[in-house]
Amino acid sequence: MIDLRPSRRLPVVEILPPVSAGRDAALPSDDRLTEFRPEDVALPSFFVWTLGCQMNRSDSEEMAGRLLAAGCPEAATLEGADLIVINTCAIREAAEAKVVGRQGYLATLRDRNPALRVVLTGCAVRELDRGRLPRRYPAVDVFLRPDEEPEIVERLGLASAQASVGIASGVDTARTTIVNRTVVSAADLLPGTRAAAVAAGAVHRGSSISAWLPIVYGCDKTCTYCIVPLTRGPERSRPFDDIIAEARALAAAGYREVTLLGQNVNSYGHDLPPEARFAHVDTERSVGRRLDRAARPDLAELLAAVDGIGDGAGRPAIPRLRFLTSHPWDLSDRLIDAIAGRPSVCEHLHLPIQSGDDAMLRRMGRQYTVEHYRGRVERLRAAVPGIAVSTDVIVGFCGETDAQFRATLRLLEEMRFDQVFAAAFSPRPGTPAALLPDDVHAAEKRRRLNELLALQEGIGLDRNRAWLGREVEVLVDQASSPASHDHEGEPGAADAVAAEPDETAAGPEKGHGDGERPPEAPGPGEARLAGRSREGRLVHLVGDPGLVGALVRARIVHAGPYSLRGRLA
Ligand code: SAM
Ligand code: SF4
Ligand code: F3S
Repeated sequence: MIDLRPSRRLPVVEILPPVSAGRDAALPSDDRLTEFRPEDVALPSFFVWTLGCQMNRSDSEEMAGRLLAAGCPEAATLEGADLIVINTCAIREAAEAKVVGRQGYLATLRDRNPALRVVLTGCAVRELDRGRLPRRYPAVDVFLRPDEEPEIVERLGLASAQASVGIASGVDTARTTIVNRTVVSAADLLPGTRAAAVAAGAVHRGSSISAWLPIVYGCDKTCTYCIVPLTRGPERSRPFDDIIAEARALAAAGYREVTLLGQNVNSYGHDLPPEARFAHVDTERSVGRRLDRAARPDLAELLAAVDGIGDGAGRPAIPRLRFLTSHPWDLSDRLIDAIAGRPSVCEHLHLPIQSGDDAMLRRMGRQYTVEHYRGRVERLRAAVPGIAVSTDVIVGFCGETDAQFRATLRLLEEMRFDQVFAAAFSPRPGTPAALLPDDVHAAEKRRRLNELLALQEGIGLDRNRAWLGREVEVLVDQASSPASHDHEGEPGAADAVAAEPDETAAGPEKGHGDGERPPEAPGPGEARLAGRSREGRLVHLVGDPGLVGALVRARIVHAGPYSLRGRLA
């Protein structure tokens, strides 16, 4: 049956906040509580500005849900809000600069609305930098680390008897620990506060078709360039049953696609206690730090359990299951078997390689070799024929020679990735690499980045052409009127689809479709549609706008480097 529900999207903006639909606050359902209803006039309307990765989008959904549950209405625009929540990204200097550069504008808004409060959260808020933040972000009133986000309502003094969700009074959620001799969040309460938010319905999902489901917070890896372990703390897995409960709720709500989230989603479970019911789990890690994973749940076990939630007719209730991001250390044979054997698990793996040179990988602290990576992908492709593999690459890392960069280009030619998200190295304060000389000049980084993207454009086109004439399943998640695509051929005008896996990098999601105006114009009652194939490819279609939310079959009639065009089959 066709799902006619409209798609709701959280306001997720990179530069200029768009107009969102706005939402009303949750009201008490019991009439006897009406007199205790929060006064709309007394509670601030809020707007969440989200930058960065899927984890941030998911966190923003939870913050929006908590604010709505507290009685705060959502403002349609940043300008119309009394409370602006900025969920920042710090993966590269440019990501932080976007918010630093908006401080003057925020000050202007405060001049117009003296009641305005600005909360800054996300990865730019690091324990180490607490003292320096007010100078860097003068327009901000309250700073919350990512692990403090569940407290947003309480910290702003907006909590009422009906609003507190899973934050016991007196609980110190802001505990810290040490990573690389740096004080970071311990964040060990996050799994529990998430479960409470889900149980209370205080997660306001941006889509009614695809849902994010965080399964592990933080990162235990030691990549020398990366700020994430310092911003999000060590890995903490959510309890297995909490995740299954959330997945069941998503299935019951009719979600068609669920993406399990974590910085290292495939290390899920190593920090959970062993249990007899997982006695058969014997995931071995062949590289990196040895972990005792025996009898603990792993990602393969989770995929099997979510896939096993049935629709009553013997099919998985959630037809599409994805997971992001995997680390080559932890890509176990059990996980490969689960991708191959579980029908709902999509035929796409995002597996960052970062460099095609072993010496660079060592300096980056990645702890695997090109050979190990190659072996994993070979095994994966043998087990799941036709699987799409995408990756991340950093160019111009400290000391990268031209020969080492060329090794990365050669690896791209050899591996023939379906998508590559590439970025120039950006030194991050507090990371081990910040102590190394950043000796590849900015212009040279840019040149290498462009050369790599040009090479990948050709590979992507070849990979996409292989789909010509074939039929694919598309989960339609967008419809737009013909008028809104008047400039479809212009760079940046089309393919405005949720960026993944890392929207702060340059890659296909930043691309502009296949650079051609689709020949088919929508007929009466039709719209331009877009969605993803199971392999994660963007497919443009023309058809009934009521198909948004439906899984349809389409025959591919055109292939560009970044997207496909199909006809409904
Ligand atoms: N956990 C994932 C992994 O194993 O690689 C990726 C997480 S990170 C949010 C996304 C990507 O950002 C990385 O894969 C890397 O390519 C890129 N990245 C991280 N730190 C960077 C830096 N300092 N400069 C440039 N790119 C960076
Ligand atoms: Fe960063 Fe490495 Fe952790 Fe990925 S695995 S989040 S790149 S430290
Ligand atoms: Fe950015 Fe933090 Fe994600 S640094 S990419 S928002 S984990």
